Amino acid sequence: MTIENQHDLDKLRHIGKIVATVLQQMQNQTEVGMTTLELDMIGKRLLDKYQAHSAPKLSYGFDGYTCISINEEAAHGIPGPKVIKAGDMVNIDVSAEKDGYFADTGGSFVVPPSNDLKNRLIHSTKQALNEACKVATADAPINGIGRAIQKVAKRNKFKIIKNLCSHGVGRSLHEYPEEILGYFDRRDKRKLHEGLVITIEPFLSTKANWVEELDDGWTLAAPAPNLSAQFEHTMVICKGKPLLMTQL
Ligand code: CO
Ligand code: CO
Repeated sequence: MTIENQHDLDKLRHIGKIVATVLQQMQNQTEVGMTTLELDMIGKRLLDKYQAHSAPKLSYGFDGYTCISINEEAAHGIPGPKVIKAGDMVNIDVSAEKDGYFADTGGSFVVPPSNDLKNRLIHSTKQALNEACKVATADAPINGIGRAIQKVAKRNKFKIIKNLCSHGVGRSLHEYPEEILGYFDRRDKRKLHEGLVITIEPFLSTKANWVEELDDGWTLAAPAPNLSAQFEHTMVICKGKPLLMTQL
């Protein structure tokens, strides 16, 4: 969507704060021995409390309230009986709707103890998001986002998962501009404009540059022992720095 007035901005900011809060609370409450279903139920209770509706459930009939992906799973993991272990790399993605506005956020973390590789992967992915935000300004080319992500990945010797993209968001979970690639694509001639609402969500990985859908019809994973990390913000494009809607 493109922000047209103060009402749009207020509503988007409101749902942005909600998903950011739910993500933070879920991360804080993650414990060894918990199942991903139990963790998702924490998310469900918080979404209920804030009168927000899970976007993947609402939009695609996803069997869960949040997406929880562990280790070689990169995205869209279905909450279930899987038990969280010490040293696991966990990604939680929270997207929700309230009053017709959608926001989307996500983040990866390691359940202690971590190691150097996992720490570097997390740090580099955060850096990729930061660098991409710097080039996400009105009238800039959309492919500058992928270019910035690719630069950080290369510098830190990580791969990019090429079939996981950033996207437009706001009045639905996925909308124009669809498929904002995580690497430079010279054929993409689209430009950003003032007020446009998008996510930026780089996926860096240790080995794989592609994920496949598992038999459950949802989970996107690479072969073990690949590890990936993702950080995602919903933002409004401006003349200067984007306005982050999902930062607490
Ligand atoms: Co997301
Ligand atoms: Co997203």
